Amino acid sequence: QQSLPLKGKKVVVTAGPTRERIDPVRYISNFSSGKMGYSMAKAAAALGAYTVLISGPVELDKPEGVQLIKVESAAEMLDAVLSEYEDASIVIKSAAVADYRPKEQHAQKMKKREGDSSIELERTTDILKTLGEMKKNQVLVGFAAETNDAVGYGQSKLKNKNLDYIIVNDVTDPNGGFGNDKNVVTLLSKNGTIQPFEPMEKNKLSLLLLETIMNEESEHK
Ligand code: PMT
Repeated sequence: QQSLPLKGKKVVVTAGPTRERIDPVRYISNFSSGKMGYSMAKAAAALGAYTVLISGPVELDKPEGVQLIKVESAAEMLDAVLSEYEDASIVIKSAAVADYRPKEQHAQKMKKREGDSSIELERTTDILKTLGEMKKNQVLVGFAAETNDAVGYGQSKLKNKNLDYIIVNDVTDPNGGFGNDKNVVTLLSKNGTIQPFEPMEKNKLSLLLLETIMNEESEHK
């Protein structure tokens, strides 16, 4: 009999990239495949949680036993996350949300013109920061994709966004990052613990990360 430590709990996971439309045929996005977020959702479901996976556009199948909500843009992801937040026990933000979107979305395809062009960008809402400001009993877990000083930047995101945990990954590491089946991460907690994990398949790593978080939560109850 497998133990189901998250039975009766709701876990919300975000995954994948967002797409910010320029016009009907073009968008700004990033290289997230959704593998990390989908693995986190599978792990939460395997541990017994009622799992809601809010996903940007990816090429992955819906994991079994998970409720999937598909979104496209950062604004849609914000709305979906907010509607699932209040009764969530754990929220895990694996998605690579765009920080900027085109200020103007053209209704028609933009035409080629002579010379160079540029697109004016405006900031999107920081979903994780918003959740941190609203937090009541939820355990809030962020991710940080960095290319240098991952732990240092992770620590400041943990604090600035009022998170309980942040999972940092150096996305330039050949053993992990965007699109890879594996990842190599360090888990930082608000209690100051720093736990590095060996490079490992995202599926296995996600289970270990969730179990580690649950252990730390029960120790600090
Ligand atoms: O999808 P894969 O191909 O498997 O790749 C996995 C991954 C590299 C995308 C994943 O491991 C990862 O690092 N996800 C977070 C990527 C990211 O956007 O990191 P960030 O450091 O830019 O953002 C920090 C945190 O704020 C993240 O939890 C992000 O979801 C959140 N955020 C960022 C911007 C924004 N507008 N709203 C947010 O909530």
